[in-house]
Amino acid sequence: MTSANQDALKVQVGQQAVKYIDKLLTKDAVVGVGTGSTTNHFIDALARVKHKFDGVVSSSEASSQRLQGHGIQVFELNDVNELIVYVDGADEVNNQLQLIKGGGGAHTREKIIASCAKEFICIVDQSKLVPCLGEFPLPVEVIPMARSAVARRIVGLGGKPIYRPGFVTDNGNQILDVHGMQIDDPVSLERALNNIVGVVSNGLFGISPPSLLLIATPTGVETRRV
Ligand code: 5RP
Repeated sequence: MTSANQDALKVQVGQQAVKYIDKLLTKDAVVGVGTGSTTNHFIDALARVKHKFDGVVSSSEASSQRLQGHGIQVFELNDVNELIVYVDGADEVNNQLQLIKGGGGAHTREKIIASCAKEFICIVDQSKLVPCLGEFPLPVEVIPMARSAVARRIVGLGGKPIYRPGFVTDNGNQILDVHGMQIDDPVSLERALNNIVGVVSNGLFGISPPSLLLIATPTGVETRRV
């Protein structure tokens, strides 16, 4: 698939997500918004219905800028009681709708906002579907002083952590991208990584996968629930 075709699929699924959430929008509704190129298309489509809801909570500075550029109000999560829905992309999705996220390094805020929303809708093009998670390197956000110590513990779990050079997360931390893991049990690995002191969060969404997956294909957008 050419990148132009893939981008067209991302546009399609972003627009479909807005059609899907349209029925949930009310004057005081707040929407959770993810990060990445697929989510950018969702943001652009969401702008067309911005009069129907109050505002958003955003998972990154990049998404906040795009949202504000469209005149959409961005709230702090601390100032919001309820998120009607969270919409975001993914780097890999398996058959149980478990995800690897964090290619853009925003997975910590993404995981926090997803956990606060009544529903999590994941939007992908078909290239993100995999039988087993792990070909895409798993991002792990670490406190900078703990980076090497965490990396040694990850080697102990069977992974090959590579420092993402020059990248600083919106939280002021660093990223280790973990290569070479065939992730047969995402929930156990997510817990094991969470238990390493110095890890802020990892990009596995196995414990709390999305409730709905929208997949863009050349013949239309497919819907999957677990
Ligand atoms: C950012 C993410 C993104 O959702 C993920 O990287 C997918 O991005 P894209 O839609 O550009 O393929 O987790 O941290």
